[in-house]
Amino acid sequence: MLKLIKRCLEYVQGYREYCRELYENGEPYFRPTPPDAIDETWFERTKPWYDKKEQGLLPGVARSCHYWAVDGDRFIGEFQCRTDFTEKVLFDIGSVGYAVRPSEWGKGYGTMILRQGLEIAKSLGMERVLLTVNEENRPSIRVIEKLGGVLADTVDAYNETEGRHRLRRYWIML
Ligand SMILES: CC(C)(COP(=O)(O)OP(=O)(O)OC[C@H]1O[C@@H](n2cnc3c(N)ncnc32)[C@H](O)[C@@H]1OP(=O)(O)O)[C@@H](O)C(=O)NCCC(=O)NCCS
Repeated sequence: MLKLIKRCLEYVQGYREYCRELYENGEPYFRPTPPDAIDETWFERTKPWYDKKEQGLLPGVARSCHYWAVDGDRFIGEFQCRTDFTEKVLFDIGSVGYAVRPSEWGKGYGTMILRQGLEIAKSLGMERVLLTVNEENRPSIRVIEKLGGVLADTVDAYNETEGRHRLRRYWIML
């Protein structure tokens, strides 16, 4: 059964494998941690940064809560929720980031992660979330629309991995 859990030492190895799969797949729509940076001390080393990020204490960075998606001992994917509507959130990254490791695509995990993630967003006090998605990212568009995403508009956007692209902005009411 899929669960969203807080980041923890027990699943660091799985997280590294997941990041490596996304990297080797050349995934343009989600930028994971570079797998080679995830060494023995990575979890402890980065914990203070993630804790600050979660409390909204990093200057210029939207408050962001991170969860890992696991099914038994298998690492499946991740979910991130940004609770502030900064300019970057509104016109680039959205309130939600989610991904599934490529070897597990098409099995319903993306839908489960977003469904459970929306419950988390609600528990964090959010009344609605914004999902931004590249117009070409059909699987994510399908998942977002299945879970009630209402298209607000489509805007021109640019970032390093996707280049110039059309970005769909969807609201989901919680
Ligand atoms: C988007 C993502 C999370 C989906 O994960 P997943 O586990 O494959 O999702 P699911 O299996 O729950 O659902 C995928 C849906 O897309 C559909 N789909 C897959 N390829 C498709 C395509 N080319 N066109 C249209 N629909 C497609 C599937 O049929 C399924 O819909 P269904 O349940 O109605 O059959 C995964 O592709 C991923 O991690 N991508 C990289 C990161 C990313 O894009 N994150 C989102 C950024 S907005």
